[in-house]
Amino acid sequence: MYILGISCYYHDAAACLLKDGEIVAAAQEERFTRIRHDQDFPTQAIKYCLKEAGITIEQVNYVGFYDKPLIKFERILTTYLATWPRSFPSFIKSTPLWLRKKLWIPQMIKKELGFEGDVLMIEHHLSHAASSFLVSPYRESAIVTVDGVGEWATSTICKGEGNDIQILRDIRFPHSLGLLYSAYTYYLGFKVNSAEYKVMGLAPYGEPRYVDKVLETISYTDDGSFKMNMKYFAYDYGLEMTNGHFERLFGRPRREPESKLEQFHKDVAMSVQKVTEEIVLRMVRHAYQLTGSKNLCMAGGVALNCVANGRVVKETPYKDVFIQPAAGDAGGAVGVATYIHHSVLKNERKWEMKHAYFGPEYGADAELVIALDLHAVALDDAPVADLLLLRLAEAVPGLAVACAGAKQDEHRGRQRRGGQASNRHRHRGHRLTAAPPAPARRPRCGSSAGTRARGAGFRTRPSTPRRSTRRRGALPPAAPA
Ligand SMILES: [Fe+2]
Repeated sequence: MYILGISCYYHDAAACLLKDGEIVAAAQEERFTRIRHDQDFPTQAIKYCLKEAGITIEQVNYVGFYDKPLIKFERILTTYLATWPRSFPSFIKSTPLWLRKKLWIPQMIKKELGFEGDVLMIEHHLSHAASSFLVSPYRESAIVTVDGVGEWATSTICKGEGNDIQILRDIRFPHSLGLLYSAYTYYLGFKVNSAEYKVMGLAPYGEPRYVDKVLETISYTDDGSFKMNMKYFAYDYGLEMTNGHFERLFGRPRREPESKLEQFHKDVAMSVQKVTEEIVLRMVRHAYQLTGSKNLCMAGGVALNCVANGRVVKETPYKDVFIQPAAGDAGGAVGVATYIHHSVLKNERKWEMKHAYFGPEYGADAELVIALDLHAVALDDAPVADLLLLRLAEAVPGLAVACAGAKQDEHRGRQRRGGQASNRHRHRGHRLTAAPPAPARRPRCGSSAGTRARGAGFRTRPSTPRRSTRRRGALPPAAPA
């Protein structure tokens, strides 16, 4: 049985193909289009997955999409109404795309792929949870997902048992740890949904001098519940993340992108990093109390914060931790596909994700394309240039090139799937080193890293099982969610 998972139209579009529950191929669209964080329909990634499996789209049994666009659109419209008329510019900008594409996902998928079968849509945070738990070695586990926002949820605590995932608690938009981190990324002059890792990397150069000011913008409790002070943020109504109140709180305007980084910026980065770590720690400890499990699975964009993850491993009582390497939205493609296979169709779990190398392997042709692409910008990168020149020499008989010290083994196998792997100067297939040597307890798989009533804090999900999938056509009963 083949199941194709798709995530797209927010950022990091991706595809994942399962064969009988095992990942055959998975890749982000950016690797093919050369557009960083490409969010468009992942046509190239899907083509690659099908080619890798040696099948056509007619042989795919189900296609899954990683969130529920109608509910997401409901949240967006509700938020626009609540913040009208300040939301008018954002409404004008985003609504046409929703009406043209995002509300018609099954139709788009069928049209783009010529797919005639069933298209299922799974709740965003269930996709994140599934991307971790259902490919982990555990048959029961606490699951914590934390990101910017899905439909309404921005964080969840779940319990995974066998094939099923139950959401026990959630926190809802606009209260979002991912959006908090993105807002500070914006204030520090970096690109949102892209350069959050720079804030994390900048933090150790600073001191947590502004923790009190960060705590003006977000408050939290011992169970990891948190509440944003929306006075300081603009992301719920505008095209920017923060507003004038935020700048006045810190006493300085937003840093101009590419301008000089001062100690102030490093201290702000350290301060928001510290607060983020404290909230994540409390959240996963609360998940431990709620589930009683000694295993923890994590996913969602905030789970790419490897500094926070390190503290989770060291400072919480879990015996074992598994973090989906593609913890961001690209991993939603893995999550929806595995959720359909195991939780919807109830197929037995037999496979574990022990590595993340499911992307394409470069052949000589692709290397030539990369050589041309890099030629203009990075031939001063000696190892890469040497490698490319060497490959050019191999591919074009008689071509004389100077290759100083290029090593064949610099290029090794399939691309790693997951965050922080978009460095165009490191075309080595795997790109990042695999998991570090095992300490006594280590994270598995080597990650790098208003509610409807606009309230905050963890909400208890109804214990009554309910459908979590949009079913089209005859399928076995949906699993409780
Ligand atoms: Fe997400």
